[in-house]
Amino acid sequence: MCGIFGCLGKHNLITQTLQGLRLLEYRGYDSAGIVYRTAQGKLRVIKAVGDINQLTARVKTRPATSLCLGHTRWATNGGVNLKNAHPQVSFNEQIAVVHNGIIENYDACRTKLQKKQIKLRTEVDTEVIPNILYLLQHNKHKIHQYLRGQYVFAAADTTTAPGFFVAKSGTLPLYLGRAKDTVYVSSDTMAFPATVQQIIALNDGDTGEITLDGSKFYHLGQPITKAWQAFTPLNKQTDKNGFATYMAKEINEIPDVLNRITAAYQQDETLLLHQRQFHRQLSQTDCVHLCACGTSYHAALIIAHLIEKHLHLRAIAHVSSEFTADTLIDKRNLAIVISQSGETADTLACISLLQAHRVPIVALCNVTSSTIAGQSELCFPLLCGPEIAVASTKVFCAALLVGCLLINRFNPADCAALGQLAQTTLQQARQLIHLPANRPQKIFFIGKQIDYFLALESALKVKEVTYTHCEGYPANELKHGPLSMIDQHSLAVVYQSDSTSNAVAEITARGGQVITLPPLAPENPLNFITRIIPAQIMALDMAEQLGINPDKPRNLAKSVTVL
Ligand code: F6R
Repeated sequence: MCGIFGCLGKHNLITQTLQGLRLLEYRGYDSAGIVYRTAQGKLRVIKAVGDINQLTARVKTRPATSLCLGHTRWATNGGVNLKNAHPQVSFNEQIAVVHNGIIENYDACRTKLQKKQIKLRTEVDTEVIPNILYLLQHNKHKIHQYLRGQYVFAAADTTTAPGFFVAKSGTLPLYLGRAKDTVYVSSDTMAFPATVQQIIALNDGDTGEITLDGSKFYHLGQPITKAWQAFTPLNKQTDKNGFATYMAKEINEIPDVLNRITAAYQQDETLLLHQRQFHRQLSQTDCVHLCACGTSYHAALIIAHLIEKHLHLRAIAHVSSEFTADTLIDKRNLAIVISQSGETADTLACISLLQAHRVPIVALCNVTSSTIAGQSELCFPLLCGPEIAVASTKVFCAALLVGCLLINRFNPADCAALGQLAQTTLQQARQLIHLPANRPQKIFFIGKQIDYFLALESALKVKEVTYTHCEGYPANELKHGPLSMIDQHSLAVVYQSDSTSNAVAEITARGGQVITLPPLAPENPLNFITRIIPAQIMALDMAEQLGINPDKPRNLAKSVTVL
């Protein structure tokens, strides 16, 4: 994870870097830092533990500078502290680096550097990079020969003309953006300002020396040319629209998202063409593998269930990181990968395995410019606009609806009714799950079949933003073990159906509190898509009561780009 943003130019570079970093906070917010060139040609580093607000408070002055590079960190190796925050500098403070990814041969690099009397000061793998760049001097483009792993980084060097050096190994994203008199580097094109008209995406094995007068690129050490591509800046829509948190805003956007998807998938020519292509692929398939993580995996479980039920086709949902070379796949299979960010490393690893077996890959993805979207033969957009809160809400509902539209066995009127049903569910959410005055110490969400998968997703939401112990369970499974946990400190939220009454009786008999959640609009077979909303609101309300910012829960990040 981690976000890199920087700029080379003349005007307000420190302010621009802080603004860019703020847009990349979804990639991690354990610590942050910037480095800029002073008027004397030295590097000045400022870092803070915490998010960009903490960093901004430490940036007391913003002098004119020709170069500024910034970083927002999600800690992988090395604790969350100032020393381990980026930028990391070489032993002699000549070179500073901001880095995303992992240097796998970090120990070997460290030993080599120590043999050359270069002492490292931190626990982070990043620190080896500026020191190896120092040793390489004018041969920085050979850096890939010395480092192993998935990484991207940008480096500033006091001994070169104002400019920066970039490198990429693997699939982590890194882009350059060009405006009239400024060149930017960013982990995500979304963070580029509206003035950026052209971009370059770095590829695996690329390095580049970037200056305002022109840039030089190399691939695995050999010079190459890379052309700037036209770029239309994205509408960032990053305000909270009057809501206290992004999570609240995004849950409230669900009705619009569902209406937008229904209309687009029934009217848009390209989407209709892609749906026909998908149905042709399905007709030649003997098994569908769905791969995803977290919330997207819960959507995959439901879509797999519906494919088997309605299309009588074998469908298996896999947690991406559990999909390995041992999983039985062959080219008669079809893969569906689901991802909000389109950058999830575990899901990208599945894609590599699937590609090796020549399995066609279809993506359901919210960020259509992402790596996962680009690596798939067909990408069905989730049309949610940016989802900023770490806990995924609107995209879960969107993935379910797109999945149902692709299955193509549902009545268009039922799809069209979902926007209104989501609106009604939003209005009634707090009556449907009325939080007990005594905060429960443990919470169980239970349900059967699709409701069980909703229970898993509900539990994940509550865990993420409230740090409360919470589990999703199949209703009839309680008596096979977890019932021993039930006492007066536990709460069970039951997705009510014909087969949940025994579980309710068993919990009540043991003193547990129970909230039953009846389906709204039971006549609509798609009502499960909106049924998650009360649990999302419950998680949001609990976070507020506990004083937790649900947009940035501890230890997490929005885009999980490490394996
Ligand atoms: C939970 C959540 C995560 C993501 C997971 C996959 O609220 O957001 O569990 O669903 O990290 O991310 P994507 O969908 O971007 O591949």
